[in-house]
Amino acid sequence: MNLLTLSGVHTHIGAYHILHGVDLAVPAGQVTMLLGRNGAGKTTTLRTIMGLWRASQGSVRFDGQAIGGPAGQRSTPEIAQLGIAYVPESMGIFGDLTVRENLLLAARHARSVEQMDTVRLEWLFGLFPALKKFWLHPAGKLSGGQKQMLSVARAMVEEQRLLLIDEPSKGLAPAIVGNLIAALRELKSTKTTVLLVEQNFGVAKALGDFVAVMDDGRIVHSGGMAELAADESLQQRFLGLSLGAHQ
Ligand SMILES: Nc1ncnc2c1ncn2[C@@H]1O[C@H](COP(=O)(O)OP(=O)(O)O)[C@@H](O)[C@H]1O
Ligand SMILES: [Mg+2]
Repeated sequence: MNLLTLSGVHTHIGAYHILHGVDLAVPAGQVTMLLGRNGAGKTTTLRTIMGLWRASQGSVRFDGQAIGGPAGQRSTPEIAQLGIAYVPESMGIFGDLTVRENLLLAARHARSVEQMDTVRLEWLFGLFPALKKFWLHPAGKLSGGQKQMLSVARAMVEEQRLLLIDEPSKGLAPAIVGNLIAALRELKSTKTTVLLVEQNFGVAKALGDFVAVMDDGRIVHSGGMAELAADESLQQRFLGLSLGAHQ
């Protein structure tokens, strides 16, 4: 079953026509990777799903209901309320606040740490041990990889149905990318539905069940990750195009 479906989605930002008919399916309980070169439209696609940009044509459907497009646009808070969480490229964490305060702010239903779901917190500590270790430290003092993990943990502090994660490996040293992959593999084992934007094909291969490749505001290839990983001519055709200088 597809939890999220984009059909013929066009998005304009001001006078610019950025998405030109995006067709994308995100199957429930799987990790779908969205690849593509810089400027291909990946972030715009995530922002359109969240209702931060409005689709001018086409439709975004989540669990069978319209959430985006001229036929039925929901507001961003309504979309978040349905259980879709967004981890933006800029991560959106508060450097002056502690790890604990950052997580508390992300917990809609808790006013104090005592009100947070302790079972869920322990589960998050299991996924991201650094959060427990640096619980009372300012988030700004964490390493780049730990900040990424905090930003993903913020999105998961309450149960979600779909996680949208934008380029978590961006700017991380290779050794730290390994930690990030390990944490995201744990997340994957929980069968959370994830749409993950990535430029690093190594990360994409390690995590993805499905893959969609974007270029110029369109999906130019979609299919199984194993199939793409095993087929060099497909990779050359689509990843040469999509990853450019990154590989
Ligand atoms: N706020 C904006 N105003 C104008 N153009 C934008 C804006 N945001 C993105 N774009 C343009 O939209 C295109 C797609 O950008 P983006 O979705 O960020 O690509 P990606 O995430 O794949 O690198 C790029 O050409 C970019 O310059
Ligand atoms: Mg981007």
